[in-house]
Amino acid sequence: MYNAKSYSAVSPASPLAFKTIPRRDLTDRDVQIEILYCGVCHSDLHTVRDEWNSVMPTVYPVVPGHEIVGKVTKVGSAVTTFKQGDLVGVGCLVDSDMSCPNCRDHLEQLCPNGVFTYNSPDKHLGGVTYGGYSESIVVDEHFVLRVPSNLNLAGVAPLLCAGITTYSPMRRWGNIQGKKVGVVGLGGLGHMGVKFARAFGAHVVVFTTSPRKKEDALRLGAHDVILSTSPEEMQKHAGSFNFILDTISADHDINAYLHMLGRDGNITLVGAPEKPLPVFAFSLLFGRRSLSGSIIGGLKETQEMLDFCGAHAITADVEVIPIQEINKAYERLVTSDVKYRFSIDMASLNAE
Ligand SMILES: NC(=O)c1ccc[n+]([C@@H]2O[C@H](COP(=O)([O-])OP(=O)(O)OC[C@H]3O[C@@H](n4cnc5c(N)ncnc54)[C@H](OP(=O)(O)O)[C@@H]3O)[C@@H](O)[C@H]2O)c1
Ligand SMILES: [Zn+2]
Ligand SMILES: [Zn+2]
Repeated sequence: MYNAKSYSAVSPASPLAFKTIPRRDLTDRDVQIEILYCGVCHSDLHTVRDEWNSVMPTVYPVVPGHEIVGKVTKVGSAVTTFKQGDLVGVGCLVDSDMSCPNCRDHLEQLCPNGVFTYNSPDKHLGGVTYGGYSESIVVDEHFVLRVPSNLNLAGVAPLLCAGITTYSPMRRWGNIQGKKVGVVGLGGLGHMGVKFARAFGAHVVVFTTSPRKKEDALRLGAHDVILSTSPEEMQKHAGSFNFILDTISADHDINAYLHMLGRDGNITLVGAPEKPLPVFAFSLLFGRRSLSGSIIGGLKETQEMLDFCGAHAITADVEVIPIQEINKAYERLVTSDVKYRFSIDMASLNAE
């Protein structure tokens, strides 16, 4: 065991603050990573504030962070895929049973025994896993990803969650080339959704509550933007979408977006608001529409997404911050004021 500098919160109401945490000694299969950048996902904030208490209560202290990019510093004796100095990423998963039907189908994110990067039981050290707001992490090599060498690393970090979470449902839906695809909410996930939908050849339309984001939506690749607070703008597009990705982090009326779908259209929820979203049956019946959900992606697909980003020069648009600004960043996340992902420069931990 060794100590690593990190930032953690001790209660739902307390700010994140410096803390030293234990990391395990390497097993044969482990990779030790020096963390260079870690993206700030809205899930970090939901967890720190215990907003998902009814599903996944937060165990304190919590060290969030599951958009990790770094450099390999050491590998266990049985590790074959990585060596010291490699650029690597770690997303939301650090372990699974590797034997259930989902794991065998490369869907580790659906494993009943999956272990999340933070706030999951830690079978090595006891307590819960600690995430990427830290100077280093130790992870089983199966859950470590290769990072393309041509991309800006601060902008790669968010791909490990926001990237795969938007890439996977669009791929799974089928070929969206030429289809009318909506992305609801232009935040960390939403702006990646726009980039992928555009790269896949869709006609991309952003739904936003923030008039100030309209120009950015077009710059990021959208063909059109709908101010979702305007009934007139919404009405113009009613019944016209094939597929909509809903990334909203807070309570909202899902029926308003279901009405945007055409025949057999689908809305996939990736946003995870704290409260249930009531669905009016007729929103689904008319048009034979469907509503589904999706959570991150498996390791194989996450690697495919990273390679796709390398080939198409896709990264997140990031505001790089020192970790000392994390609490201010959370306040801005709550008010949808980020362009479009915070990425923590972990070298800032040297000042602690
Ligand atoms: N399923 C998964 O695997 C997965 C993975 C990662 C994250 N998530 C979840 O996905 C959600 C989004 O995460 P994120 O990191 O992208 O968050 P984010 O950067 O804060 O973006 C969320 C966006 O939702 C919109 N929004 C916020 N409050 C709203 C409200 N009251 N009504 C309507 N729109 C609102 C805003 O967009 P506009 O300003 O454009 O309206 C905001 O920028 C979170 O709930 C997160 O936990 C799920
Ligand atoms: Zn996330
Ligand atoms: Zn499994």
